[in-house]
Amino acid sequence: MKKENLTPTVSTETTATEDLDARWQRVVERRSFLKGIGMAGAALSAGTLLATEGIAQTSSSTGKLSKGDVALLQFAAWAEIVESDLWTQYAELGGVGPSGGGAAQSSEEFQKFIGGNPAYTLALQNLDGDMPQYITDNTDDELSHAAFLKAFLRSRGEVPVDLEPFRTLPSSQATGARQIKRLTSLMNLNVDLSWYTRYRSGKNPDLGAAFKGPFVIKNQPAIPLNDTDTPPSTNPAIPITGRDAERIQAIANTAGFHFAFIEQGGASLYPTLAFKATDPTVLRILVSIGGVEIDHFGLWHDKGANAVSQPLAGVVDPVTGLTFPDLNNPATELTQTNKILPEPCNFISKSLPRCSVIRPTSTQNGGAVATVKAFTEDGLFIGQTPAFFELSMQLAVAADSVRRGF
Ligand SMILES: [Fe+2]
Ligand SMILES: [Fe+2]
Repeated sequence: MKKENLTPTVSTETTATEDLDARWQRVVERRSFLKGIGMAGAALSAGTLLATEGIAQTSSSTGKLSKGDVALLQFAAWAEIVESDLWTQYAELGGVGPSGGGAAQSSEEFQKFIGGNPAYTLALQNLDGDMPQYITDNTDDELSHAAFLKAFLRSRGEVPVDLEPFRTLPSSQATGARQIKRLTSLMNLNVDLSWYTRYRSGKNPDLGAAFKGPFVIKNQPAIPLNDTDTPPSTNPAIPITGRDAERIQAIANTAGFHFAFIEQGGASLYPTLAFKATDPTVLRILVSIGGVEIDHFGLWHDKGANAVSQPLAGVVDPVTGLTFPDLNNPATELTQTNKILPEPCNFISKSLPRCSVIRPTSTQNGGAVATVKAFTEDGLFIGQTPAFFELSMQLAVAADSVRRGF
């Protein structure tokens, strides 16, 4: 490598910035229409813009947040603590661990509690061989979101959300699950599958469309409950046959769809919160975390769909009777399993061309209250106390009520 290539990145960036600044300044000077603007026109130079951004970031790293921005971040923290709790349960049983290949973890904190349920992990791997790694990494992401939001609020002198008093729900008794108290329950879920149809449709719930899922998952476990029901030594090899293999595969399939349900919720929630942010740093946090929720949703949409296509489709839960159909037989616009990228849909106005976007992004359909309601209807909070619902709704109403300031 030539020596000049070893020039530190910082100075290269500085030179590039200076070049850009000088060029942009010349463009600004040449534009006669800007001359009348005077100082306002001069303020458009790239250097000034960069300097302004710097000032905003510096001052906003110590400044007091508005009440509205605090409400947005507190609700985001609520959602991330809830996500962390449910994802941790999935990771203990089906993440990378003794039964899942043992790949390196990205967080030391996380390493402390990965366990592994061999039968569940194998069933998840029927959806995709990399499922344990994806589950582990999604969990790690949620833990990082929650920890960051809490620390950021504290750094601005605000009190972060504390859901610890509500950690009262029981753990799974199956091999791999730690025996600790939980915030959420994954043992009796109603997984709303309307997102599956919604993202394949050209219609948008924010413009009045309503969607039904391609089949129904109601009152189903998404994690193994105990070792009697799902012996950890079960090997659910495809084709899935026999009571124990079908039971654990149905549970893993429900989980596959539940992953996507949770993350599409995050994908819609963050844009609704970001609309309302005033401080540029708060906006940056919401947009940046929100992008990762969308990434998660895209991944899980693909994996869940593998439960309803060949060679896996057709599993029937021997306990609950839940059937995972073959959604490619026949393949329709709204069911075809590999149509996992969002279809362009109505957006803003039906008179405008359809656009491929996250949907919904209205406060009513995708905001904080909608999220609490959707998670509650999902069955995540079965067994939670009235105080938990009261606090959750209070935080949600506060976030949904925020209006962007200038
Ligand atoms: Fe998250
Ligand atoms: Fe998430």
